[in-house]
Amino acid sequence: MSYPGKQVRVPKGLGILEASLRFKVPHASVCGGRARCSTCRVRVVSDGASLPRPSRREAFVLDRVGAGDPSIRLACQLRPQTDVAVIPILPPHIGAVTEAGGQPNQFVGDGVLALFGLDVDRGTACRQALRAASLMASKVAYLNHQFATEVRDPIQYGIGIHAGEVIVGDIGFRDRTVFTALGDAVNVAARLQDMTKTLECRVMLSEEVASTAGITLDLLKRQRIEIRGRVEPMTVLTAEDPTVLAGLIDPQGETSETELEVA
Ligand code: FES
Repeated sequence: MSYPGKQVRVPKGLGILEASLRFKVPHASVCGGRARCSTCRVRVVSDGASLPRPSRREAFVLDRVGAGDPSIRLACQLRPQTDVAVIPILPPHIGAVTEAGGQPNQFVGDGVLALFGLDVDRGTACRQALRAASLMASKVAYLNHQFATEVRDPIQYGIGIHAGEVIVGDIGFRDRTVFTALGDAVNVAARLQDMTKTLECRVMLSEEVASTAGITLDLLKRQRIEIRGRVEPMTVLTAEDPTVLAGLIDPQGETSETELEVA
């Protein structure tokens, strides 16, 4: 298998992403190889005639990102039986959540649940979540600019951020368990994310997150909204451009509370 500047010998049928991990070739793979995020895309620059054809799942994901070029494949799905040369398309380090101190947790469809506050206080957790939203916005803007010729439509996204007490742990049965968070805060964060589409903003955070993070509210639009499943309307703050959040975070604002947060 050949990458730019590196050649490795692998057993026949080993996936390209697995080879990258095994031989420490930096390679973006936000969903961990589950054919959901498409960030592992590679361009095959050798003769691709003998490569296995994309599975329905791979074809679906490639189509969703507008990769009509047959030389573009998902590294986590492509298992070559012969020599192959590839160039990873996206830069390897695009996970904004970990950079801000959070943890990407569950991938649901094309969305990701990210947790903050597993090991820091609630004020810090809220500021980390806001910083992650800002980082995500600038990284998506970078990707859209960098790959304007590769993708049919620019990447669109919406971010919902809420905080509250949740239950965290390994949920499941016997060997089929997954570490995740359960609770109203998770559901509300998902609903806020969903409502970014109808309210035409890119980020929506609850007033609770803003006050716990200790941010100034200038530049954010405040409104009361009804949330499905909740009796009381909720006050939220929205922004068209999440990068404004970085400028609102007070780096000196600390809090001594230790409750677990999810955003
Ligand atoms: S790693 Fe996410 S689609 Fe391949």
